[in-house]
Amino acid sequence: MKGRLKGLWGEPRPILKTKEEIEKLRRVNKIVMEILLALKEEVKPGKCTFEFEELALLLCEKKGVKPAFKGYRGYPYALCVSVNEEVVHGMPRKDKYLKEGDIVSFDFGAILDGYYGDAALTVGVGEVSELAKTLMKATEEALYKGIEKARIGNKIGDISYAIQRHVESYGFSPVKDFVGHGIGRNLHEPPEVPNWGKPGRGLRIEVGMVLAIEPMVSAGSSEVEILSDGWTAVTKDRSLSAHFEHTVAITPRGPEILSKV
Ligand code: MF3
Ligand code: CO
Repeated sequence: MKGRLKGLWGEPRPILKTKEEIEKLRRVNKIVMEILLALKEEVKPGKCTFEFEELALLLCEKKGVKPAFKGYRGYPYALCVSVNEEVVHGMPRKDKYLKEGDIVSFDFGAILDGYYGDAALTVGVGEVSELAKTLMKATEEALYKGIEKARIGNKIGDISYAIQRHVESYGFSPVKDFVGHGIGRNLHEPPEVPNWGKPGRGLRIEVGMVLAIEPMVSAGSSEVEILSDGWTAVTKDRSLSAHFEHTVAITPRGPEILSKV
């Protein structure tokens, strides 16, 4: 989500979830990841990006969930498809075709029984460059580094710092204009979970928090701009970008990835 929305929420107090609510979030997030993995299977050169929108909608119907992004703040589609220099919020297009060597990020959310799921992944189209492979690997690893810090006794800043540190160790940059977020009966809840920051800063992590952690990483500069469609965020220097996201519950035993299959 777009960062710096504190004004919209008033005090950034997280909404803690009960075990029963976490069970509902588990159900919807598992379906979100099943749909993402089905999309991933279909990635090959020559596909147009709109085909993935159609497949996502079909799978929503089949699995009995409602797409979460369609209509959210006016976003017109169920799926975000971001190719190469597109960071997030790329719109599915009938005139945009995947080609060998591209990397494509799918970001997808769903609603079931009033609860939201949200996850994202990036995949190569056919054979991709070493840079593209390393960028995807670094971004996914950074997600897991962040998740590892999502436990009682830590602060949100510990997650942020772990992600930033890992990304920068490769010479890549975390994108700063978008952040992870709390999630529950709303797609976006407090707290914000930035992909950069200082250890020990920010809110204390508590049992019952559910966080969508989502590193967005640029192989070049971290600066982004929004295209004239009003949605698509691209790196200013048009360098490659990758995005991985999981929804994670904070339990007494540590972080539990809800968006796993
Ligand atoms: N995972 C993205 C986010 O948290 C998805 C939002 S896309 C939107 O911002 F279209 F719904 F805005
Ligand atoms: Co999200």
